[in-house]
Amino acid sequence: MKWKRRHILDIDDWSREEIEGVLETTGAMVEVLSRPIRKAPPLRGKTVILFFAEASTRTRVSFELAAKALSADTTLITATGSSVEKGETLLDTVRTLEALGGDIIVMRHASSGAPYFVAERTEAAVINAGDGWHAHPTQGLLDAHTLRGALGDLDGKRIVIVGDIVHSRVARSDINTLVPLGARVTLSGPPTLMPAAWRCGALPDGVTYEPDLDRALDGADGVIALRLQKERQESGLLPSLREYRTVWGLTTARVGRMRPNAPVMHPGPMNEGIEIDAAVAHGARSLVETQVTNGVA
Ligand code: CP
Repeated sequence: MKWKRRHILDIDDWSREEIEGVLETTGAMVEVLSRPIRKAPPLRGKTVILFFAEASTRTRVSFELAAKALSADTTLITATGSSVEKGETLLDTVRTLEALGGDIIVMRHASSGAPYFVAERTEAAVINAGDGWHAHPTQGLLDAHTLRGALGDLDGKRIVIVGDIVHSRVARSDINTLVPLGARVTLSGPPTLMPAAWRCGALPDGVTYEPDLDRALDGADGVIALRLQKERQESGLLPSLREYRTVWGLTTARVGRMRPNAPVMHPGPMNEGIEIDAAVAHGARSLVETQVTNGVA
């Protein structure tokens, strides 16, 4: 496949061929990363700027290690400790980063659409590392790679995504990656945490909504639990965290409703004891650490 894109902003307009092409390269990078010297030359002489205006552990470190494995120079800028704190605009920050020689800007931002704004105003290539509620395209790619490692071809496989769907960039990017690869996605979670149109049945192709998690999990090929942001309770979208865990938490009994060995995933960071029990998060079916490792590849 010939790569034609300058930026990676979302997966929603990617073809199956493009997704497959990136996942093939992922497989090659897994091999590079297993060598004693984890280096390949493609980005030698290039500078990758990690611009993380919102908190991150997994994504930030994954991108830094990936850029270094591809021989790039890297530098990190976060909202705290940079001139963003002094009120510098996003546009001025990006102009500064470009003037400093950034070839690629990996960007996490709390505002949906911020990477699009930047991509239209810079010569650098922009990679969206998560913007607001909108998209987290590389999470979609690493989740698809992880599921294919466990299940093989995803054609016809049914994956449950459970939790706070409406605020989840991970849910949107997982749907936009898994469905073109042939998977079916069942969403589950409180109706108050579902986009209104989806709750009312206007769902994307390949996606269904089943509010009863036990029914959603029956015979499923895998499950992805989403992080519950505890402030949702304060904003009145949930009665209590204890009730959430009772109705939508991934327990050992619940994961037993899926097919034998169906994997359990979570993008992290996890609230153990709320959306996922510790025994499930660290149990035999869990691929949470594999997801983290695959994020670099
Ligand atoms: N999965 C994910 O995006 O985690 P971080 O917020 O730690 O980057």
